[in-house]
Amino acid sequence: LAVIAVILLVVILAIVLGVTLSKRRDDFNTKFMERCQKFKGYNCQKIWNAFQQAYVNRDHCDVPTEAYDPLIATAPFESLCNRMMFWSKTKNVVHDFTGGKDCFKTVEDTLLGSVLNGLEWCGKNGSSETFTTGCPKWEECEKSAVRSFWNRVSAAFGDFACGNVTVMLNGSIDTPFSPTSIFASVEVKKFKSPKVKNLNVVLVIQKNSVTNCTNESLKNLTMGLDKGIGYRCFEVPDSHLKECGSDPEKPCGACW
Ligand code: APR
Repeated sequence: LAVIAVILLVVILAIVLGVTLSKRRDDFNTKFMERCQKFKGYNCQKIWNAFQQAYVNRDHCDVPTEAYDPLIATAPFESLCNRMMFWSKTKNVVHDFTGGKDCFKTVEDTLLGSVLNGLEWCGKNGSSETFTTGCPKWEECEKSAVRSFWNRVSAAFGDFACGNVTVMLNGSIDTPFSPTSIFASVEVKKFKSPKVKNLNVVLVIQKNSVTNCTNESLKNLTMGLDKGIGYRCFEVPDSHLKECGSDPEKPCGACW
């Protein structure tokens, strides 16, 4: 009897665990679809399929950025000339700013960026499933499903850049243009003249800021820019950005 009881218990536990895991997967798929459907004119089922094929049946840390090429191709960006906003170490301030106005767009405002923002996912060798827990953390491996996605979509966003491009950098740190950031290592390198005319750096300044537009790392930024791309730098207090970003009367780009 005891043996049967143990077997029953194990079976019940296995079922509960299975249901929980598949619910998590369904939640992920539901969130993906709901977020995707906010964008009109895209085939979200096709986008989901292309998304999955990038990482399923692959080891946690072995997803090359190119695996996301088909996904990028199924969800092209809408035209965004003069309105593209890049950022580095300013995640909250930049999204507070762009969220208040319908001017500038970050990659997180595009279909793929907004659908996957804040989510965690990965695959596993020999399995066709999507896992949403126990996936490697950002620092753990360079080619995780998540990190390769952000590198790939950022490369596409950088490639797409045109006209006057803006980047919000953090004036409270020593190295606002950090060579290991996605902005420096992926996006800037894609900016090409004459498609990109000018890069505006908005250096977000706080009371205790240690940096200004003469910062050494910004010199590296200007030196690495494709020849022919203009450069301007604005030191803008974060309080001013908050105020100006929420003022609907202020036209786009009038906050610096
Ligand atoms: N650990 C965890 N997450 C990280 C890490 C890390 N060490 N590094 C980067 N990330 C993830 C986080 O989600 C973080 O919010 O990348 C985000 C941005 O990292 P930052 O260092 O602040 O900036 P950067 O690497 O330049 O990436 C932002 O890339 O996504 C594009 O267009 C976007 O221009 C933007 C840039």
